[in-house]
Parts: sequence; C-alpha cells; structure tokens
Amino acid sequence: MVTGGLGFIGSHTVVELMEAGYEPVIVDDLSNSSPQVLDGIERITGRRPLFYDYDLRDKAKVKEIFDRHPDLQGIIHFAASKYVGESVENPLLYYENNICSLVHLLHEALAHDVRRFIFSSSCTVYGEPDSLPVTEDMPVKPATSPYGNTKQIDEEILRDSAKAYGLQVIALRYFNPIGAHPSAEIGELPVGVPQNLVPFITQTAIGLRDELRIFGDDYPTPDGTAIRDYIHVVDLARAHVVALERLMEGRNKEAFEVFNIGTGRGSSVREVVDTFMKVTGVDLPYRITGRREGDITAVWADTTKAENELGWKARLTMADALRDAWRWEQKIRNKKSNP
Ligand code: UFG
Repeated sequence: MVTGGLGFIGSHTVVELMEAGYEPVIVDDLSNSSPQVLDGIERITGRRPLFYDYDLRDKAKVKEIFDRHPDLQGIIHFAASKYVGESVENPLLYYENNICSLVHLLHEALAHDVRRFIFSSSCTVYGEPDSLPVTEDMPVKPATSPYGNTKQIDEEILRDSAKAYGLQVIALRYFNPIGAHPSAEIGELPVGVPQNLVPFITQTAIGLRDELRIFGDDYPTPDGTAIRDYIHVVDLARAHVVALERLMEGRNKEAFEVFNIGTGRGSSVREVVDTFMKVTGVDLPYRITGRREGDITAVWADTTKAENELGWKARLTMADALRDAWRWEQKIRNKKSNP
C-alpha cells in the first residue's frame, strides 16, 4: 500500500516499485495531487496501478482497504500535509492529517497482520544541527513548526509501536527532494505559489513569476546564501524500494530504523540558481531579499549509514534534477496552453 501515492515523492516511488515488480495499491485523497498522475504512471510503466480516493482520517475506509487486500506485504506512508507556513496557521489540520491518519493506519495494519512500514520523515527533525554533515544519531531538536512536530511525533509513535507490536519500521529522513521523472511524465505539481526553491525557479523561468527572491545572503556560508542537500526525487524513490526489500528479506537490525536520504553534498541557493541557468541556458531574474523566518543556515546529510546498511547511494546530481524539473515544467505549461 502506498498512501499519498499520487503526490510528488509517492508517484515516483510507485513507478520504481512497479519497475521492481511490485503491485502497489495507491490510497490518496487528492488534496494535493491529481488523478491524472495515474496516466503518467501508466505511460511510464505500461500498467495502471489500483487507486482508492480515500482520506485516511476516515477509519472505516482504511479498514475497507485492508479487508479488500488481504495480501498486502507492506505500507509506504507518504500521505501527509507538508507546508511549514500552513501548519503554523492551521496546526490542527496538521495534527489530524499527519498524526490521526498514522494511528488509524497502524491500527488496521496490525489488525490485518501487515507489519512492514516505511515512513516519510524529514531532516527537519535535526533543526539547525550542531555539526555537519548530520548523522542519524544526532539529537532531534525541538520542532519549530507544527509540521516539523508532526514528523517527530510520528517517529515516536512508530518507535513505540515497533517495540510493542512487532511492527518493522524504517523511517527515511529526506533532505530536499527536487527534480522530476526523466520521462517528464510525472513531477511536482505545487498548488498556488510554490513555497519551495526549485518549483519557484522553474515557474519563474517559464514566465509565471516575475522574479525569484533569494531569501538572505548574509548567512555564515561561503557565498552568504543558505545551504541544503538537494536530492533527485528518483533517487529518493529508489531508497523506498531498497528499504522495503530490507524488510521483506528480514535484513533490518532493529524493529525501528532511521536513515538519512540525501546526497551527502550541500549546495547554496546561489549554486542552485547558477546551475539552473547553466544547464538550461535560461536567464533567471532574481533579487536578494531578507531571510525567510524559520529558515536554518545549513544542513546536509551524512549518508554513510544508508550506504553501508541499505546499500543505497544517490546516483543523480543536483544538475540532473534541475534539468529534469525544467523539462517537466515546460511539458506541463505546453499542455495547459495546448490542451
Ligand atoms: N528559498 C529562496 N527563495 C524561494 C524559496 C526558497 O531563497 O523562493 C531558499 C530557502 O530560504 C532555503 C532554500 O531555498 O534556504 C530551500 O528552501 P525550500 O523551501 O525549497 O526548502 P526548505 O529547506 O526550507 O524545506 C525543506 C522541505 C520542508 C521541510 C524542511 C526542513 O521542503 O518540507 O526542508 O528543513 F520542512
């Protein structure tokens, strides 16, 4: 079962799962995705996965899916709200979507004896790290937003459930996922004005936005702009398949495991902007403005544990991801002007 399987990371993971021979059952409430994503998945894989337009807050619906699919082998749980700013304005939405839904899912999974669980966590749990790169055993810092708090609480719920019920959990702490499938059949579909850097860049490049604002060039970094670890969404998707296989083959060392999923390389906002212009040949209008509230200076992953234990390593670069994100942006805009 792939919850949130029509979203950005979910849809790419569905493709990787299908290409590895799995038959995903998608559950997605379409709150931040579109049923047309199924067409893209079908064009890439040649098959159309099963899909339920259900909201995981509805316990009866969750039960129904498990009843209908007694052969489920595991769950990859993406379905969640993901905007930091929105979570500050409407925390209860986040606690309901990101926590109540997880609890419903776990109840039914255990009642139906489905015990393999892969969870979408985030590097946000590290806050502003004391040293870089961050390893998985570094302390989880107090969350600075309800969104971040839900990821921390969810990890705790899963850790406790692994201990109590024999659930086998892998939490993947994502760094900054960007890019799109190289086929340009699926990609990121932000609703409204994008909050994240790369969709804002591609929308500016295509002319939907006047200019990119770089939030701060007075950070204590080599060029003054903030540093993140940008990971290609296809590499990230592959990490889920590898994690699932680890659980299927019983190779996990503990009932609750955590892995950083990043490239191990930090890039500044300026580097991202410069690389985008270089690989696409597009001149991107931008302006430096003040810092964005809540942003940290720098974070990037130590990926040693993922490499040694999972046998997973990013293969694609930030430049590959920007090229793919641009191809996807061009494709969706042409479609809209040319239905
Ligand atoms: N940035 C800009 N201009 C923009 C958008 C972003 O300069 O228009 C900068 C940000 O200030 C930051 C960097 O680009 O320095 C990356 O910003 P994103 O919004 O793309 O990503 P964040 O690192 O802020 O957020 C990501 C995930 C969140 C998660 C967070 C945890 O998208 O879900 O990491 O660190 F909570």
